[in-house]
Amino acid sequence: MCHSSLRYRLLSPLFAVVLAAFAIPSTTALAESKPIVIKFSHVVAPDAPKGKAAAYFKALAEERTKGRVLIEVYPNSQLYKDKEEMEALQLGAVQMLAPSLAKFGPLGVKEFEIFDLPYIFPSKDVLRAVTEGPVGRNLLNKLEPKGIIGLAYWDNGFKIMSANRPLRSPEDFRGLKMRIQSSKVIDAQFRALGAFPQVMAFSEVYQALLTGVVDGTENPPSNMLTQQMEDVQKYATVSNHGYLGYAVIVNRKFWKSLPDDIRDTLEGAMAEATRYANVIAQSENDAALEAIKLSGKVEVYTLTPNDLEVWRMALLPVHREMEGRVGKEMLDTFYKEAAKFGFRN
Ligand code: LMR
Repeated sequence: MCHSSLRYRLLSPLFAVVLAAFAIPSTTALAESKPIVIKFSHVVAPDAPKGKAAAYFKALAEERTKGRVLIEVYPNSQLYKDKEEMEALQLGAVQMLAPSLAKFGPLGVKEFEIFDLPYIFPSKDVLRAVTEGPVGRNLLNKLEPKGIIGLAYWDNGFKIMSANRPLRSPEDFRGLKMRIQSSKVIDAQFRALGAFPQVMAFSEVYQALLTGVVDGTENPPSNMLTQQMEDVQKYATVSNHGYLGYAVIVNRKFWKSLPDDIRDTLEGAMAEATRYANVIAQSENDAALEAIKLSGKVEVYTLTPNDLEVWRMALLPVHREMEGRVGKEMLDTFYKEAAKFGFRN
């Protein structure tokens, strides 16, 4: 054995102790100083209801975890477009999303498309009873096998129709190319009106309307306004025919790996952000509709009670047609919730 290796062997236990003495505190210090980063990606503008709710959640979560968690919000499809963001979540490239309930079909969870059925929610109370009750929870649980946990439902609002020609009666849709989200129920809705639905990512809609790739679309007023679609649509109809809301979702593996106290704190912040989201959504959409009218760029028509009856008659058959896709039992459950509030389908 050479002299130096003997010396190394003699010194090494000492070294190990010294190293250990430094290593333990420094690792702990590192863990304390390095925040857990949650990337929250979404496709709307920061001043849309979802954008505001995401910013609210960020502020609450960071304050309550005292900086141990950092929420990075990426709005406006900055990181990913609709379909890609779902894949990114499953792969763990982002940790949190809030896609519209109309976008879960490609993931293999088609039951959420029940929310897209025309005139399925006669009032916000019925909607709330569904999303805050066991039905809503059961639906979110269907995401678990996909590696996703559903945390909450956030409102946007009821949609208006828009196009480059007036849309007063169902016949006015005949032959129009309409941009839709990926939902098969929305596809059926527009086919029932004689239109040609075209699935397209939200980030591409403005350009498609501008260039005439599509003639029209449907949006809650807040989405129409915050994407400046009033510049590229001449007519809109307040039809309140369909609902647009979100499921706030996280990567399951990531969420389970969080320290318990952090996860609890984040769940508390999410509960509060959800209340905020659902309070502001209505007033944001009311204000957006006013702003669209005031812009003078879009002629806005509101359906009369008579019009509404005609629209309902044209669109209600979509419920039966899509019963197989969204589940008959689920559909009956939704009807029962409506019946509790005195509504009949
Ligand atoms: C859409 O694609 O029209 C909406 O889902 C966008 C959104 O996230 O509100």
